Amino acid sequence: MNYKTLLIALCLFAICTCDLSYLRMDDQNVALPSPDRNLPTAEYLAYHKYPLEVHYVTTEDGYILKYNRIQAKKSKIVSGKKPIFLQHGLLDCSDTWIINEEKLAPAFILANAGYDVWMGNSRGNMFGRNHTTLNPDTDKAFWNFSFDEMSKYDLPAGFAYIANVTGFDKIHYVGHSQGSTTMFIALSTRNQGVLKYLDKVAAFGPVAKVKNEYSKVLSALADYNVDWLMYALGIHEVFAYSWLKHPFLETVCGFLGKVCRAFLGPIADTDPKVDNYKRMDVLVGHDPAGTSLMNMEHWKQMVKQGNFQAYDYGAIENLKKYHSLKAPLYDLTKIQEKVYLFAGSTDSLADPTDVAWMRTQLPNFWFKEYNYGHCTFMWGISNEHMDDLLNILQGQDPTPTPSSQ
Ligand SMILES: *[C@@H]1O[C@H](CO)[C@@H](O)[C@H](O)[C@H]1NC(C)=O
Ligand SMILES: *[C@@H]1O[C@H](CO)[C@@H](O)[C@H](O)[C@H]1NC(C)=O
Ligand SMILES: *[C@@H]1O[C@H](CO)[C@@H](O)[C@H](O)[C@H]1NC(C)=O
Repeated sequence: MNYKTLLIALCLFAICTCDLSYLRMDDQNVALPSPDRNLPTAEYLAYHKYPLEVHYVTTEDGYILKYNRIQAKKSKIVSGKKPIFLQHGLLDCSDTWIINEEKLAPAFILANAGYDVWMGNSRGNMFGRNHTTLNPDTDKAFWNFSFDEMSKYDLPAGFAYIANVTGFDKIHYVGHSQGSTTMFIALSTRNQGVLKYLDKVAAFGPVAKVKNEYSKVLSALADYNVDWLMYALGIHEVFAYSWLKHPFLETVCGFLGKVCRAFLGPIADTDPKVDNYKRMDVLVGHDPAGTSLMNMEHWKQMVKQGNFQAYDYGAIENLKKYHSLKAPLYDLTKIQEKVYLFAGSTDSLADPTDVAWMRTQLPNFWFKEYNYGHCTFMWGISNEHMDDLLNILQGQDPTPTPSSQ
């Protein structure tokens, strides 16, 4: 970590994350430190006795993404089980699906229910810092992407790869947050490389428009021009895993749980009433996992302009790239597939007002609202949504939340 990244990391923390009200919160009987808090993915899975296969998926534009494949506890990876593709959200990584307690972690629940679980990674995070020709440390061009490219290239590459290895031509998909956004883009632009593989499509904390979001990180980005400071300093990668000294943080979080919460809780807008603070020390060993500044910039544009739209390059570049002065909007009404929307009533990023708008656009959806925040779907203290998901995958849709709400 050089002085520039340190400086920026400190600025961001000062601006958006240090919320002292977290210090006053009731203790959730937090029994830290967790014994598995220092383990990287492979060791973590071995500790919990899940079989792992690591795969490298190469996209059409050369990005090499690490995928982790797991199956039921104490088993060996076999073929013939129905594949399900899990895609994480903004600043997150594939480990998000396994870091909660075993009985609550979505990937473990799915694996033990008999699924072949594939956890993807987006370009630019700590498991997607790899390319056939570009070097992420020295080539600026590596960081020239936003979630538009994750949708256009990462998703079809992931589906094609999983289909090829498993022999299944239809694959279930669950996307959290930005992992749902990229799917909405693929569906609305009718990306055949994605459409042809789809079985059930579920969106946890679904995000298209973010007009009403009030998350700390996105709001800080929109309100303060920290992005320009970073561009000026030549920084293209943000919230990189290496920004935070993880072993140190894990230790701090293990022994000073409250301080850790005050510092890190707000980054992910977590809430001790619904999120599992017992696992906070494990969480900081795996998140935040980094992305490009251009991706954050795209999110900022979405907040400021209030639309679900492609990256805005400015009028002249837009004209070259999109043949229009403005960045094109993504049109949810073009989506023909049924989408399963799992929404949180206190979700600051996928705000209920924005999700309500989404429901006026989507021609075919199932919707249920849970008493959840944005990350509760992965890190929560309830598995109500996972029970519902398992029923959906079996072809039995649970009762949705009435549309009047
Ligand atoms: C980059 O991808 C190749 C496989 O294509 C892999 O062997 C290598 O370990 C990866 N490097 C990193 C740093 O992940
Ligand atoms: C970034 O990508 C766009 C197309 O997506 C391209 O027009 C532009 O030249 C690229 N810039 C750099 C610095 O690679
Ligand atoms: C499918 O897998 C085979 C064997 O690993 C490989 O040779 C082939 O290139 C793969 N095809 C695609 C489309 O990934």
